[in-house]
Amino acid sequence: MPRTRPAGRAKWSSRCHSDQDRAVTRPRRLHGQSVRSGVLARRWSGFADVSPRVRTVSSSSAHHPADLDVVRESYDRVADNYAHMVATTGVGDIRTHPWLRAMMDTFADAVGGLGPVLDVGCGPGTITAYLAERGVNVSGVDLSPRMSNNARRLYPECNFSVGSSTDLDLADSSLGGVLGWWSLFNLPRDILPRVLSSFAQALMPGGQVIIATHVGDDDLPRTEAYGGVAVNWTTYKWRPEQLAVLVEQAGLRPVAELRLPADGQNGPGVVLVARRDG
Ligand SMILES: C[S@@+](CC[C@H](N)C(=O)[O-])C[C@H]1O[C@@H](n2cnc3c(N)ncnc32)[C@H](O)[C@@H]1O
Repeated sequence: MPRTRPAGRAKWSSRCHSDQDRAVTRPRRLHGQSVRSGVLARRWSGFADVSPRVRTVSSSSAHHPADLDVVRESYDRVADNYAHMVATTGVGDIRTHPWLRAMMDTFADAVGGLGPVLDVGCGPGTITAYLAERGVNVSGVDLSPRMSNNARRLYPECNFSVGSSTDLDLADSSLGGVLGWWSLFNLPRDILPRVLSSFAQALMPGGQVIIATHVGDDDLPRTEAYGGVAVNWTTYKWRPEQLAVLVEQAGLRPVAELRLPADGQNGPGVVLVARRDG
């Protein structure tokens, strides 16, 4: 698929992290695909010891979802269709959704000057690149090597790593912002609180997390997605009030919430922004 640049987009931002900015970049093999370990240099951000370090998914992790490998394989299968959908239809691109864009712009304004930002579950890198264009010091990480490959192909100036939100080796108080943008809904209900706690711990005081996810009560098994591709994952839906409680229990203070009603194509959703105060 040719690289697609939406009309009106500025040239690729220098705020994405390039290969030259990495102190340690070791090509390695993971799940049969060549990936790069993103251990990032201090020079990358200009902040001391704040680089997000992403380590290999570990099957021995105490927080390892039982279906993580199956979920990864599913996203690998849909990755090309997903990237194509975003590029050709604008679905999944906040530029086509003014309210989502407003939330993301406000988040960028709040955290951009604070420290590095990590887009967890970045998929093909759409939002990572959007934030970089706004001058945010941002990188992306995704469970799926195929998603990450697409992100690198589309936004070669940005830094993308492979890893699970359940197993990120993030330094305490090192990040200005963390995104869980439509990327946390596959986490089992007992695992999400631990991931949110790890995000809270990684945020520096004043840092913020922005989460977008599906609203409801059910655990919805999915067997196909994004153009009829076979997948095997569960979408765990949350009520906004439940999600706000989880975020508070993780040590964050909710500061904004946007509810998205079902629109005929998509079910209801919510965007929640929360801040680490101290
Ligand atoms: C619906 S896509 C959203 C991608 C991107 N955030 C966007 O808005 O375009 C969900 C993404 O979450 C990723 N994902 C799912 N579980 C994950 C996990 N445990 N750790 C990291 N990424 C995960 C998938 O690989 C996929 O790229």
